[in-house]
Amino acid sequence: MATSPVQDTSPSTMQRLPSPYRPEAAVVADRLQSLHEALDWAAAAAAAGPWVQAVRRHPPPFWAMESLLKEYPISSAEGLALMRLAEALLRVPDAETAVALTADQLSRADFEGAADGALARLSQSAISLSKRFLPAEGAQGEGGVFARLGARTVVAATLRAVQLLGRQFVLGQTIADAMREAAAARRRQPQLRFSYDMLGEGARTAADAERYFVHYEEAISAIAAAGDPGRPVQHNDGISIKLSALHPRYEAFQHGRVMQELVPRVAALCRRAAAANINLTIDAEEVDRLELSLDVFEALAAQVAREHPRWHGFGLALQAYQTRAQELIGHVAQVARRHGIRLMCRLVKGAYWDAEIKRAQELGLPHYPVFTHKHHTDVSYLACARALLQAQDVIFPQFATHNAGTIAAIVQMARGMDAKFELQRLHGMGEGVYREVLQDDPTLACRVYAPVGRHRDLLAYLVRRLLENGANSSFVHQLADESIGMDELLRSPLHLAPQSALPLPPALYRPA
Ligand code: FAD
Ligand code: 2OP
Repeated sequence: MATSPVQDTSPSTMQRLPSPYRPEAAVVADRLQSLHEALDWAAAAAAAGPWVQAVRRHPPPFWAMESLLKEYPISSAEGLALMRLAEALLRVPDAETAVALTADQLSRADFEGAADGALARLSQSAISLSKRFLPAEGAQGEGGVFARLGARTVVAATLRAVQLLGRQFVLGQTIADAMREAAAARRRQPQLRFSYDMLGEGARTAADAERYFVHYEEAISAIAAAGDPGRPVQHNDGISIKLSALHPRYEAFQHGRVMQELVPRVAALCRRAAAANINLTIDAEEVDRLELSLDVFEALAAQVAREHPRWHGFGLALQAYQTRAQELIGHVAQVARRHGIRLMCRLVKGAYWDAEIKRAQELGLPHYPVFTHKHHTDVSYLACARALLQAQDVIFPQFATHNAGTIAAIVQMARGMDAKFELQRLHGMGEGVYREVLQDDPTLACRVYAPVGRHRDLLAYLVRRLLENGANSSFVHQLADESIGMDELLRSPLHLAPQSALPLPPALYRPA
């Protein structure tokens, strides 16, 4: 990896964004104001209604994540067992150890004696799930896997089920496999584009970072070989990268090192992506890394302006659940204008909500850096969407959501402004809704964020997906739950809750 000196700008002296730790209600009141008369929610809900009904008429198979987590909510004993099993399975290197470890965990837990027979129900479901996927009788020796494992059948089958759950979110173990899957999916739905995500994040060592860098390089080469540099960048598949994968000390206190060592690595990836005219997006990670990621992003924007001014594929993801999301969009647009470049910006709600809340509580921070009411995040998402659509001169907006109401609202606002944009979903999520959306309007495009890699790099990603799918407030969770009526599912988020939904962090410690 080449390194070159990069000017070190200390983030502490830069007042780009307001503090993330500020009262939630004032921010949301401002966002609601910006949406006033810009969005007809009743019309959006009416547009989304038929999609939702169609998905409920043709629900996902019972082993799909949303179905499973409806039956075994994450807050239940079964849900916790599932998480623990996922963790055990993905951390240990071989099947036998995984079986032994999980058996040990389960025997320590008091599930057997639980009045509701939690383990029994989980196991029963896991076994029937596994039976569908396990090799046919005899394929693994006399009697198949069940007979071979004897008394440990339950554990093994459960493990297998967890492994299969993980697989639901991964498009392929290698980029070649994933691209084959993508080609097959595109034959069924020509409006699909893909953004491959080489699994791996939070590099612990320089060797980890080097390994992930090589994965990204190889993936970009493969995507480039299949793409067409001559067509508009939004029509080509692209790549998503995580900065935390590319440096073992990607943290604010290592600012100098990050600028010296990480920026040139990402710049090398940008060079390849620009040559192939593909989209390279920097994923959004934890709130306390936002400022640092902006330093990296701005250094790269300057380089893109110098070396690849005609490449419109450089981009980053922006999290609407952050209290300063809208200011962030203003800042990013300003950077693009200053450098005379065009960016691709993916708007997400944010995948680290639980961790952000926990961190703010542990540190006793004055406020949460993310909204505490789910519908406030939705309001912020819509306000940010409008801000992105208003920055069309420098930004191609990419709206990543599985929420039918949010999708309908975005389409309404974008059409009203005659704006170009694309929608995005995660592989393994939102298929039903997007089947309907794309069928309804074949002019819409949808990019699928497609993780690629092996189980050992999946854990953190899988846990985020389990939390997301399992949360009662999550749209995909509610969609799978027939007891939730259409009115509730598509209720307008456009209202203010004056108090935080959680006690502020200092209140957890006071007065003692
Ligand atoms: P909804 O159910 O409408 O919203 C769920 C979201 O609401 C939660 O994820 C959370 O953000 C928020 N939320 C939940 N509970 C509360 C609460 N009590 N108070 C306030 N807010 C709450 N995430 C990243 O962080 N970085 C990325 O780079 C990233 N890339 C993505 C790329 C794609 C293509 C997609 C589809 C998603 C990506 N995500 C990323 C994940 C994304 O943040 C979640 O999938 C998304 O938040 C789910 O939103 P939704 O509109 O589909 O569902
Ligand atoms: C995540 O890794 C999709 O970037 C998002 O959870």
